[in-house]
Amino acid sequence: MRTVRLPDAREVPAIGQGTWKMGEGQRGAREVEAALRQGIDLGMTLIDTAEMYGDGRSEEIVGRAIAGQRDRVFVVSKVYPHNASRTGVPAACARSLKRLGTDHIDLYLLHWRGGVPLAETVIAFEALREQGKIGAWGVSNLDADDMEELAALAQGSACATDQVLYHPGSRGIEFDLLPWCARHRMPVMAYSPVGQAGRLLRSPALVEVAARHGATPAQIAIAWGLRSSSVISIPKAGDAAHVRENAAASDIALTEADLATIDAAFPPPRRKQALGML
Ligand SMILES: NC(=O)c1ccc[n+]([C@@H]2O[C@H](COP(=O)([O-])OP(=O)(O)OC[C@H]3O[C@@H](n4cnc5c(N)ncnc54)[C@H](OP(=O)(O)O)[C@@H]3O)[C@@H](O)[C@H]2O)c1
Repeated sequence: MRTVRLPDAREVPAIGQGTWKMGEGQRGAREVEAALRQGIDLGMTLIDTAEMYGDGRSEEIVGRAIAGQRDRVFVVSKVYPHNASRTGVPAACARSLKRLGTDHIDLYLLHWRGGVPLAETVIAFEALREQGKIGAWGVSNLDADDMEELAALAQGSACATDQVLYHPGSRGIEFDLLPWCARHRMPVMAYSPVGQAGRLLRSPALVEVAARHGATPAQIAIAWGLRSSSVISIPKAGDAAHVRENAAASDIALTEADLATIDAAFPPPRRKQALGML
């Protein structure tokens, strides 16, 4: 499994596992827990969750999946913007820790920007870091102007990542946010990397490139995100075959011709686009 280096020098796998809507569909909690464990065994040891997902049920699923192997796993969770205050952050973190069955979250993110000033959230995150309850903190769904504002705050430059929507059909961040993060040596965490298995995976361009590699369109979408060495991809898969496919995407190297095929179908941005968000 390829790795990506965080600003604090910790290495994380370039492909992790998302957990949004896990345990909410037809698949039971046991099945998705087994899928997560299989993903861990295949090297996708970074797991992304949030207090929002299933009102905490996703964190409980992650807690059960990582029980007995906490040290192998890099846990990412997120705080709601309405909990992102000086007192709200430690309280939300304590609830998440309990659901996750652990004493620390490796990376704790602000889920999106809300009404609480960023400066207050940063102070609360830093306090948790000093107490060892989180290893690092970051943000999600912040555009380049928000990142500029964040970086100007005292300790704002300690931000470890920005988790944002990124796949071939949604590549507006390449115009400004990705270069901004690269200049600040901050990896980006790409969410919905297979476009939630919708139209994206039926696109003739991905199907054609997949055929060239004996791969699937989903694997090509993930490999495309990883063509930058500072992108971490977090596909969500409850299906065991999908888990295996996603882990194996780490071995696919796209050629210039592949990238040109994808660019022709999904042109890179030529001007500023509003940050896409789900
Ligand atoms: N920060 C944010 O605001 C934010 C927003 C959205 C998502 N996220 C995070 O990012 C993670 C991923 O995003 P997402 O869940 O929205 O979308 P996604 O990972 O792009 O797509 C998930 C869907 O794709 C299917 N899938 C996965 N691997 C596949 C494969 N190899 N072939 C075919 N289908 C495949 C899954 O099916 P099965 O489950 O049946 O395998 C599931 O239906 C989330 O789970 C969450 O952790 C964060």
